[in-house]
Amino acid sequence: LKGFFRIRNSKETHELDYWKKRKALEGTLINSHYRHFFSDHFGLPLDYYTGKRILDVGCGPRGSLEWAEQAQERIGLDSLASAYGEIGANSQKMRYVDAPSESMPFSSGWFDVVSSFNSLDHVDDLEKTIKEIGRVTKPGGLFLLLVEVNHDPTPCEPIVFSWDVVDAFKEDFKVLELRHYEKSANGMYDSIHAGVLYDHSNPARRYGILSAKFLRLE
Ligand SMILES: C[S@@+](CC[C@H](N)C(=O)[O-])C[C@H]1O[C@@H](n2cnc3c(N)ncnc32)[C@H](O)[C@@H]1O
Repeated sequence: LKGFFRIRNSKETHELDYWKKRKALEGTLINSHYRHFFSDHFGLPLDYYTGKRILDVGCGPRGSLEWAEQAQERIGLDSLASAYGEIGANSQKMRYVDAPSESMPFSSGWFDVVSSFNSLDHVDDLEKTIKEIGRVTKPGGLFLLLVEVNHDPTPCEPIVFSWDVVDAFKEDFKVLELRHYEKSANGMYDSIHAGVLYDHSNPARRYGILSAKFLRLE
């Protein structure tokens, strides 16, 4: 039966169910927040992206790069990209690639900017994903990371790590900017907007949100 349909694992089934529910609630999935997170949040003017190649890893179905009309290439990579076509991704102004973050179908050093927003804890293999992010980012290029840390594993977020996940990028990247936030609102993006910095003097183990801007070493 291989080739006629793809059997989804339980993580993918949960993830797809979530997005189908979001689609039912929102109608057209909203994506207006991404522009801010790719630009102001990381101190990058919109024209920084002019002529650049952008890759959004674990991009989801919202059309996370629709804002980037000035880019030369804007690609969202997601292991559910084909399924997302059925809930609106097909008509968005960006290219989707259906592939795993552990084995990306791109040449080394192809992208000027690579991002992973709320996806690094969703992958299957963290080590392979980090290696691939390093491989496909051009020397001198940027990697933008937003992710929740310190949570228990869930069906869609099987990978658990803490603030020191940034150290796993050290072979290929230098940290340019690092921020730690409390999860003070419902979701990751709203918590960053709320801007409550993480209180490291409070020893209770709890969710946090990591924001990091990395430079790919030459
Ligand atoms: C919570 S969604 C985040 C979507 C988007 N980045 C956002 O912030 O709105 C996580 C995404 O990661 C994708 N994902 C999970 N494991 C993956 C993998 N191994 N390779 C590529 N994408 C993966 C899921 O399919 C899902 O679309």
